[in-house]
Amino acid sequence: MRTQVGIIGAGPAGLLLSRLLTLQGIDSVVLENRSRDYVQARIRAGVLEQHTVDTLTAAGLGMRLHREGLEHTGIHLQYPGVRHTLDFPSLCGRTVWVYGQTEVVKDLIAAQLDGGPPLLFGVSDVTPEDVDTDSPRIRFTDADGVPRVLECDAVAGTDGFHGPSRALVQAAGGRVWERTYPYAWLGILADAAPATDELIYAWHRDGFALYSMRSPSVSRLYLQVDPAERVEDWSDERVWDALDTRMALDGWSVNRGPVTEKSVLPMRSFVSSPMRRGRLFLAGDAAHIVPPTGAKGLNLAVADVTLLAQALVRLLQDKETDLADSYSDRALARVWRCTHFSWWMTSMLHTSGDDFDAELQLSQLRRVCSSEPAARELAENYTGLPLDL
Ligand code: FAD
Ligand code: DHB
Repeated sequence: MRTQVGIIGAGPAGLLLSRLLTLQGIDSVVLENRSRDYVQARIRAGVLEQHTVDTLTAAGLGMRLHREGLEHTGIHLQYPGVRHTLDFPSLCGRTVWVYGQTEVVKDLIAAQLDGGPPLLFGVSDVTPEDVDTDSPRIRFTDADGVPRVLECDAVAGTDGFHGPSRALVQAAGGRVWERTYPYAWLGILADAAPATDELIYAWHRDGFALYSMRSPSVSRLYLQVDPAERVEDWSDERVWDALDTRMALDGWSVNRGPVTEKSVLPMRSFVSSPMRRGRLFLAGDAAHIVPPTGAKGLNLAVADVTLLAQALVRLLQDKETDLADSYSDRALARVWRCTHFSWWMTSMLHTSGDDFDAELQLSQLRRVCSSEPAARELAENYTGLPLDL
């Protein structure tokens, strides 16, 4: 088998990269070790920045997003007794959209299987080789158990946090930064109409709570918990009661309904640099993880592959290496901005049990809710900064 770009991983990064390359006349093959059903069922991110929506729309993937996605003009920031709305259009001229990552992935897979480049599910033993040369290859075993070789001009490592690509880049030298936060999120998906127009980010002495949604009849909610918490110890009633306590506001309550998914997500920051070794380029969670409080993980993956698609088109069509050479630095500038914003949101909203920390957090929240420049800083970062920083 031969292609121009061999793409490892069919998450949002790999699938969108393949789509962007196709639109520019570059062919690719996507290799995914899970099944289509598994990939399409993973419940993950929900908030799309303006840039992400614009990119998906320009790539011909905006039909269902614009029909079923929910455009949001702000968020509510809450601390006991106060629920304050940040209005994004007046603060920074942009909005965000709520449209689940699962839906983005379904749209990308449908487009790919409808006449797009090959997308192979259920492969195993995926191993990139000779990435320091101009003709790398990927060895893998296909879904029928047959060993295969994919010859390429470049390899995209979009295989998420646990994939093989990052280790290969690090083996040639590089650096990793990591911070594990002492909290986790317990997330639920519920068949209940959201009781709020905008997402609510709520500070409470018992811990952070987040009210999000997927549709007019489905809510997505999160609670800060200890990372050692077991999901089995959280009955639906215990979750709803904690949400009621942490989001309490006079005359308002959380809407309850059947819980359809419940899981505990660890929270960490991770950055791996550089994002390139020879003809192997990393993008998305393969190179970096952010804690979810800033809603940045999926958006960063989209920003990475937007830059990477430009670099690969220039490399393979124009035979110019400038954008490939600057890719890692350009992507990492944005990664660190989002890492900082995600850390800042996480630090402002998650309680540690320490009274001094709590007073600092409340002071910061009052500042964001009373100062336009402070609110604008949050709004600009949340809705997404320009591609190049
Ligand atoms: P992934 O989506 O991880 O895709 C990588 C793909 O590579 C996967 O399909 C994987 O199966 C495949 N793969 C791995 N190894 C191999 C291999 N050896 N061979 C072939 N294929 C391989 N972000 C937010 O902004 N907000 C959120 O609320 C949020 N919630 C999250 C909840 C969870 C449980 C997780 C894990 C992440 C969450 N994120 C969230 C982060 C966001 O979902 C990720 O940043 C996003 O999925 C990154 O996309 P990606 O394509 O880089 O990686
Ligand atoms: C969702 C996830 C986030 O991490 C966030 O900050 C906002 C919303 C969500 O899953 O809807």
